[in-house]
Amino acid sequence: MTSDRETFLRRFHAAHPGITSAGLARGDSYRRLAERVPAGARVLDLGCGDGHLLELLAARGCRPVGIDLSLAELARTTQPRACARAQALPFADASFDVCVSHLAFMLMDEPAVIVRELLRVLVPGGGFHAVLGGGPTATGDDAFHRFLALAAPALRSRGLGDPRAKSEAGWHALFDGWDITFERHELELAGSFDEVWQYLGASYELAGVDTAAIRGALAASVSELVDREGREGREGRVPCRAVTWFANAIRR
Ligand SMILES: C[S@@+](CC[C@H](N)C(=O)[O-])C[C@H]1O[C@@H](n2cnc3c(N)ncnc32)[C@H](O)[C@@H]1O
Repeated sequence: MTSDRETFLRRFHAAHPGITSAGLARGDSYRRLAERVPAGARVLDLGCGDGHLLELLAARGCRPVGIDLSLAELARTTQPRACARAQALPFADASFDVCVSHLAFMLMDEPAVIVRELLRVLVPGGGFHAVLGGGPTATGDDAFHRFLALAAPALRSRGLGDPRAKSEAGWHALFDGWDITFERHELELAGSFDEVWQYLGASYELAGVDTAAIRGALAASVSELVDREGREGREGRVPCRAVTWFANAIRR
């Protein structure tokens, strides 16, 4: 059943279609996820958004289908897709060799229901590969750390997702009897200030907040980091890194 959180997500993405890939396509997380899928595989993308990953999968010779809650996002791709909830997949049993999800599974309600659906639509031996967000790096000083320090008072938790979907221990609990592996990957998102803001400012936790003051303060704050990086010959880019987890669950 649709929750307040899903209503929030639908409204947010109706207002900002394409927002996730606009901020993240510069990184390599979509490409690395696409590379886990063999050419020719029937692959389902859960929470496909504007279809950026679907396009990469199709270019690799896979046979992708995406599902998403947001019609506005789905309208941006011509790849096969359906407006559906991951908790009630409109596909026959054993229709897919692989399922993937880029920064979406961790936001979804009722992950145990989704795992049952994955078990149903995947062939035996099929895998679910998801990229999960992990926040800023533990140490270091970059735009992500400075953004969190500046924006903290304005951030509003949306209560999205289930904690079990965000950790390795949680995946072991959810995917009982599947083979689980987690790999940490640091996403390099250094770029112009506008590019870095496109990523940081896209946070769900800033929805409805007037971000002009935060953006201005961040621009001033990171200017010294640009100088520092510039001296190291990195063409004046604003340093920004994010932790991601590549989570894999293989159906036995
Ligand atoms: C952060 S965006 C990621 C979009 C896309 N995977 C990407 O990385 O560009 C999360 C997406 O998950 C979708 N979503 C969230 N909960 C969902 C659910 N229960 N079923 C289907 N889609 C869902 C949202 O509508 C949104 O498009």
